[in-house]
Amino acid sequence: MTNPYDSAYSESINDPEGFWGTVAKDCHWYKRWDTVLDDSNKPFYRWFTGGTVNTCYNALDHHVENGRGDQAALIYDSPVTDSIKIYTYSELRDEVATFAGVLAGKGVVKGDRVIIYMPMIAEAAIAMLACSRVGAIHSVVFGGFAAKELATRINDAKPKVMVSASCGIEGKKVIKYKPLLDGAIEMADVKPQCCIVLQRPMAQAEMIDGRDVDWTQAMTSAQPVDCVPVAATDPLYILYTSGTTGRPKGVVRDNGGHMVALKWTMKAIYDIDAGDVWWAASDVGWVVGHSYIVYAPLLKGATTILFEGKPVGTPDAGVFWRVISQHKVKSMFTAPTAFRAIKRDDPKADLIKNYDLSCFKTLFLAGERSDPDTIQWSENNLNVPVIDHWWQTETGWAIAANCMGLHPFPVKYGSPTKAVPGWDLHVVDVNNHQVAPGEIGALVVKLPLPPGTLPTLWQNDDRYIESYLEEFPGYYKTADAGYIDDEGYAYVMARTDDIINVAGHRLSTGAMEEVLSDHPEVAECAVLGVEDKLKGQIPIGFLVLNAGVDREHAEIQTEVVQMVRDRIGPVAAFKTATVVNRLPKTRSGKILRGTIQKIADNKDYNVPATIDDATVLGEMENALKDIGYAGSRNT
Ligand code: COA
Ligand code: AMP
Repeated sequence: MTNPYDSAYSESINDPEGFWGTVAKDCHWYKRWDTVLDDSNKPFYRWFTGGTVNTCYNALDHHVENGRGDQAALIYDSPVTDSIKIYTYSELRDEVATFAGVLAGKGVVKGDRVIIYMPMIAEAAIAMLACSRVGAIHSVVFGGFAAKELATRINDAKPKVMVSASCGIEGKKVIKYKPLLDGAIEMADVKPQCCIVLQRPMAQAEMIDGRDVDWTQAMTSAQPVDCVPVAATDPLYILYTSGTTGRPKGVVRDNGGHMVALKWTMKAIYDIDAGDVWWAASDVGWVVGHSYIVYAPLLKGATTILFEGKPVGTPDAGVFWRVISQHKVKSMFTAPTAFRAIKRDDPKADLIKNYDLSCFKTLFLAGERSDPDTIQWSENNLNVPVIDHWWQTETGWAIAANCMGLHPFPVKYGSPTKAVPGWDLHVVDVNNHQVAPGEIGALVVKLPLPPGTLPTLWQNDDRYIESYLEEFPGYYKTADAGYIDDEGYAYVMARTDDIINVAGHRLSTGAMEEVLSDHPEVAECAVLGVEDKLKGQIPIGFLVLNAGVDREHAEIQTEVVQMVRDRIGPVAAFKTATVVNRLPKTRSGKILRGTIQKIADNKDYNVPATIDDATVLGEMENALKDIGYAGSRNT
C-alpha cells in the first residue's frame, strides 16, 4: 500500500510538470503559466514561464480579500524591548502598501534592488514584502556582518535604496547599525541614492542630509500602492551566502516557483494549515528567515512569529516555552544550537514546568547536524516529535525531511529522513557513479531542481555552473557528503568544501584565511572548524609568522582576531588564533586540514602517506593542547 508521501514523491519525480502544475493552482496568478517546466535553455531550468504573479499579493491581499483580514498575520515578540505587537493581515497589508509607497516615492520600480540591513523587527518583514509588492528585488544582509561584508554586497547588488534601523539589540547590548551602514557605503564603489532609516529609541542615528530619510516620517506622508504583476521567473530576492572565497554567492530566488513550492511545504513538511500559529526562531538575514519567518507562513495564511531575542539570557532559558504557550504556537523551527544553549542553562528543563505547552505539536531542527543528545533531550522534555531536516540557502526549502503533513516515518537519529517530493537525491562517487546504499559519497540532486530553488547566481551564470553543476554532470552538487541507507533515509555527514557551520551560521574558512593573510607579519595560515559543544563548530586560526618576527605572539593573535571581527563581523565567532612553526602539508604543498581537524577534535587519524614530514603532527598536537584542544578540552 502506498502512503501519501510515496505517491507524492513518485509523481513529483516521474511527472514534475503534472505534480507542480496541480500544486500551483493553490496560488493566485494574474496570468496562468504557458509552461510549468521550461527546459529550453538547459542547464538553466525555469518554472512557470509565461505566468505573472505578485508574491506580496499572495502573502497578504489574497488573505484579506478572502476573509482573513482580522486574523493575526505577524506577531512581533521582543523580550529585549519588553514589547509584543500583533499585526492582523489587514494591518500588515496596509503597512506594507504604505512602505511600498515610500519606496515608489524614492523611484524604486520593478527590477530595482533594495538592500535591507535590519535587526529582527517587524519593519524588516514589512520592507521585504514592500519590495515584492512593487516588483523590486530585495537583498537582506544579516546584522552580524561587518561593514566590509555589507559593502561587498552593495557592490554586487547595486541597490537603488537601502533600508536600515538605528540599532539592533543583542541580548543586553545595543548594536548601532547606522555607523556600519555609513561605513559600508563609504567603502563601496556603488552608492545608493537613498537610505531609509528607522529610528529606534535605544539609539538615535545621525542622518545624512539629502541621502537619509526617516522611516516614520516617510510613512506619514506616503500613499499606499497596489501590487505590481511580475513574471513568475522574475527575481524576488538575492540572498548572499558564503562561498569558498571572500566573495559571497548571490543566490537568486524567483517569484512564481518560490511561491508555489513554499506554500506547499507549509502543509506537506510542517503540517501547518491556514490559521495555525507557527514560529521559526531564526533571523531574517538567513534563508530560514526568508522562507519560514516571512514568506511561507504568510503565503499559507498562518500566523508567523518574529522573535527579537535569544534562546537564553532574554531573560532566561524559559523564553521559548513562554513564547510557545503565550501565542499558542503549534510548531516551531530553529537550529539545534539554540536547544543546546537551553539545555546547557537548564539541563533538567525545570523552566518548562512553568508553562502550558499543550498547544505544541512538533519541533523542527535544521541548519546543522542535529546531534542525537539534543534530539533526545528535546523529545523527552517536550513530549513531541523532534524532526531534523536538511537544506541550504541555495535550495530555499528542505531537500530531506520527515514530511509531517504527508506521512510521518519513524525517526532515525542522525538522519533528516527521506528526500522530500521534488528532490531526486542520489549519492555518487568521484566518477559520478551511484554508490550502493550505506556507502558514503557526494550528495547530489538530479536536475532539474524543483521550483523555489536557485535558478542561478545574481548576474553570474558561469559561477552558478562552476559552483554547482560542473563537477557532477547532470546533477546539482550540494557540497555535502553523506549516504542513503537501504530504507531511503539520508544521512548528511560533512561539507566537502571549506564551509563551516557556527551556531547554525554558514561561514567560509577560506574567507577568514584571506583576512589573516593580510596581516603583515603572517606568512601562511589555515583556519579550521573544530567541534564545539554549544555552537557545533567554531573557527580556529593557525598562523606561521614571517622569519624574524620577534613580537609577542599574543599581540599578533589579538590583532588577527580583531581583523576578522572588523572585516567579516562578530558572527564569525573567531576568537582563537595560535602561532605555529609550520603547518602539516603533503609533499605537493597542500595543507592537511582534515588531519589537523581530527587532532583538534581528539579523533583517531592515520598519518597520511603523502605527508611531507610527520613530526609536524606532534607539534600541532602540542599547539592545540596549549589552547585547550586535542583532547584536553572535553575532559
Ligand atoms: N547583529 C549584530 N551582532 C550579532 C547579530 C546581529 N543580528 N547576531 C549575532 N551577533 C553577534 C553576537 O552578539 C556575538 O557577538 P560577541 O562576539 O560580541 O558576543 C557574535 O555575533 C556571535 O553570535 P552567536 O554565534 O549568535 O553567539 P551568541 O553567543 O551571541 O549566541 C546562541 C549563541 C546559540 C544563543 C545563538 O547563536 C542562537 O540563538 N542561535 C540560534 C540559531 C539561529 O538563529 N540560527 C540561524 C539559522 S537557523
Ligand atoms: P545554509 O546555507 O546556511 O542553510 O547552510 C547549509 C548547510 O548547513 C548544508 O549544506 C549542511 O552542510 C548544513 N546543514 C543544514 N541542515 C542540516 C541538517 N539537518 N543536517 C546536517 N547538516 C545540515
